[in-house]
Amino acid sequence: MTTASKLIDAMGRPLRDLRISVTDRCNFRCNYCMPAELFGPDYPFLSNEQLLSFEEIERLVLLFVKEAAIKKIRITGGEPLMRKNVDHLIEKLVRIDGIEDIGMTTNGYLLSTYAKRLKQAGLQRVTVSLDTLNNERFGEMNGRGIGVQSVLDGIAAAAEAGLQVKVNMVVKKGVNETDILPMAKYFRNRGHILRFIEYMDVGNSNGWKLDEVFSKKKIIETINKEMPLEAIDANYRGEVATRYRYKGSNEEIGIISSVTDSFCSTCNRARLSVEGRLFTCLFGSKGHDLKRPLREQKSDDYLLELIREIWQTRDDRYSDERFERTDIERPKVEMSHIGG
Ligand code: GTP
Ligand code: 5AD
Ligand code: SF4
Ligand code: SF4
Repeated sequence: MTTASKLIDAMGRPLRDLRISVTDRCNFRCNYCMPAELFGPDYPFLSNEQLLSFEEIERLVLLFVKEAAIKKIRITGGEPLMRKNVDHLIEKLVRIDGIEDIGMTTNGYLLSTYAKRLKQAGLQRVTVSLDTLNNERFGEMNGRGIGVQSVLDGIAAAAEAGLQVKVNMVVKKGVNETDILPMAKYFRNRGHILRFIEYMDVGNSNGWKLDEVFSKKKIIETINKEMPLEAIDANYRGEVATRYRYKGSNEEIGIISSVTDSFCSTCNRARLSVEGRLFTCLFGSKGHDLKRPLREQKSDDYLLELIREIWQTRDDRYSDERFERTDIERPKVEMSHIGG
């Protein structure tokens, strides 16, 4: 088996990570991702038949390991814990030779119920999305009036089960920038790395405007005022979060600045959408259909060739080009199909 990725794109970037969306459903309606007005009770979510089965996902992961020696997988959604028996998928993926790191990005609401089962299945890490500690604001942001405590309980359950926990906070100007400091203080001493994410123009539903972005620079300034930070090195090439630690300590935070300080030049991620399309960028439009050839019983060699061709011709750098592009209004894949 190969060890380093031999699959390099048109801009010299290797394929290293695979992010897999397992459902387009979510129990939240965050207004920056699945606004309640658009994702209402009659929204046509995908049928089970349209989703990749666990066996199909397993086959594809085996092929990605074979072709690109990927080591790292992240399970996403929608909300991945809404997919029935998602722990059974993790059990399958853990057994694959070469896979070293399996994480999940979740809103945390169902973690109190599932954390132990996920850990037993072999999951190592969860990243929990939480944008504020203020109940009222959280209820508004998640579009369902859900309180903060349910997510904090989920985080506690995950930590107790032995899962490593990170927390993601999307910062939207005029909405939750006053929550940056309270969140930083709260998670600082709890051993969970908090990452601040600049609000992005993903999908077609959130009506993104540049002046709603609270920049990385401003996030740092806000924290620095009370708790001085210093930059630290990335853990690995292609890490999306820039790392900082509180001066004089080992406690760290991260900032994901896809808008004001993009990182496309080291982007080594592929995303498998819930319908089995392979996206080579978070801001892609259509992706490449892998489900059809899978269901047409195409051979491993055929699929390997397809994957190779898709990655080798990849030249995506949407965030680097964001302010130069003229087709910025083109349809983009929804976050709920590709998982962030
Ligand atoms: P680690 O493995 O712990 O480093 O996690 P991660 O940062 O890869 O995963 P996570 O799902 O927590 O990513 C955080 C968020 O960063 C995602 O939800 C996206 O919103 C954003 N993000 C991740 N990868 C990319 C990327 O390649 N491009 C852009 N523009 N944003 C990304
Ligand atoms: N901008 C930035 N981050 C987003 N996320 C979802 N939508 C957006 C957006 N428009 C984040 C979620 C979660 C991860 C999957 O992506 O909060 O942490
Ligand atoms: Fe659901 Fe996560 Fe999207 Fe919020 S950001 S609606 S929790 S998938
Ligand atoms: Fe990668 Fe696309 Fe994000 Fe750039 S915008 S870092 S190419 S996923």
